[in-house]
Amino acid sequence: MVAEMKYNSHLLWRMLFLISAACLMTNSIEVGSADCKNADLSDLTHQVERFSQCFLEMLPHRNRTEVNALVWSLQQVLDRLREVQGKACKAFMPENCSAPEAPQNGGLVCVSIDSVHYCKPMCNQGYDFAFLRRSRVYEKCGASTGYSWTTQLVGGNRLADCLSSPVAVSGVKSAYFPSHMSCQQTIANATAEREQIEIFHKELAEAEPDVSQKLEKAFDCVLCGN
Ligand SMILES: *[C@@H]1O[C@H](CO)[C@@H](O)[C@H](O)[C@H]1NC(C)=O
Ligand SMILES: *[C@@H]1O[C@H](CO)[C@@H](O)[C@H](O)[C@H]1NC(C)=O
Ligand SMILES: *[C@@H]1O[C@H](CO)[C@@H](O)[C@H](O)[C@H]1NC(C)=O
Repeated sequence: MVAEMKYNSHLLWRMLFLISAACLMTNSIEVGSADCKNADLSDLTHQVERFSQCFLEMLPHRNRTEVNALVWSLQQVLDRLREVQGKACKAFMPENCSAPEAPQNGGLVCVSIDSVHYCKPMCNQGYDFAFLRRSRVYEKCGASTGYSWTTQLVGGNRLADCLSSPVAVSGVKSAYFPSHMSCQQTIANATAEREQIEIFHKELAEAEPDVSQKLEKAFDCVLCGN
């Protein structure tokens, strides 16, 4: 009984920590905002990792309503974090083009050069493109496309779909995230993110020789679908 109580306050403390993360990111919760501003994000990330371990051990002993309430509150925190994450690429967002939409179960590696925007759709492992795009590494939007995205899909700014598939054959090899590195994992690791951007720079330089000199000044961003 005592052990269980201790665990409970442990959990509560971690929950508060997680919520303060959302508060830190969105600045929209008034209560305790001074503490929020000083929170250490890398420490928080570590806490959240341990927190999820804690879940696995304690949840089997809890009732369904309690578990569902917890899932719901974490879902809300995650939704807010994703909003903030989406805004991080805002500087990339094309002026006269609509913002591109990242495929679910994958993402977009985007590069902007001289008001032309290039995005390369990528799928996570276990997913493949809905349409064959082996000779079509990226999509583009700028003056030459009439400020609309080139896309195989009807409906504007959705550039590709990633569908569950045991084989990945519709795209070029570089259009799939490595098995141990989904899109979300990639953007959480600066080195891995840079690797994907560099690969796309090389592909762009080959396909569009006039942009190869300007890649140094390019604005890059990787967007992940949920
Ligand atoms: C489950 O937990 C909730 C909240 O603590 C409580 O109100 C409810 O009565 C519990 N349900 C059962 C079936 O124990
Ligand atoms: C956006 O469109 C306007 C009107 O067509 C044009 O004057 C402007 O140069 C465009 N901006 C960019 C960045 O292409
Ligand atoms: C980050 O990515 C690099 C390059 O892919 C990889 O070698 C490294 O192990 C990753 N670090 C973590 C913490 O996953």
